[in-house]
Amino acid sequence: MNSIQFTFEEKDRETITVKAELGDSILETALKNGIEIHHNCGGVCACSTCHVYLDQGEDLVEEISDKEEDFIDRARSPKLTSRLSCQCEILKEGLLHVEVPDQTIIQGE
Ligand code: FES
Repeated sequence: MNSIQFTFEEKDRETITVKAELGDSILETALKNGIEIHHNCGGVCACSTCHVYLDQGEDLVEEISDKEEDFIDRARSPKLTSRLSCQCEILKEGLLHVEVPDQTIIQGE
């Protein structure tokens, strides 16, 4: 089975685990399940508002590109596990752990 466990930097938000479809991105999976992650550019790797920390499952998603790395550098508090959720297409079955940074300080969609 394929699933994503979302945890949240924002206080008062509980961990949630949802099913994920192969071929969907982490962002698409979140939005389908009512989990709001900003996506100001519409998911075309042209902003950094969909930034998340992929704490488990890096080998299950599409590899990071140079362009994605450039935008991650502009995100707030990037870490080694940082990814842009719109660019993480799920390619293999397994469990992903995703931490969503505080979305309340991001303007936009
Ligand atoms: Fe803009 Fe992901 S939504 S880079």
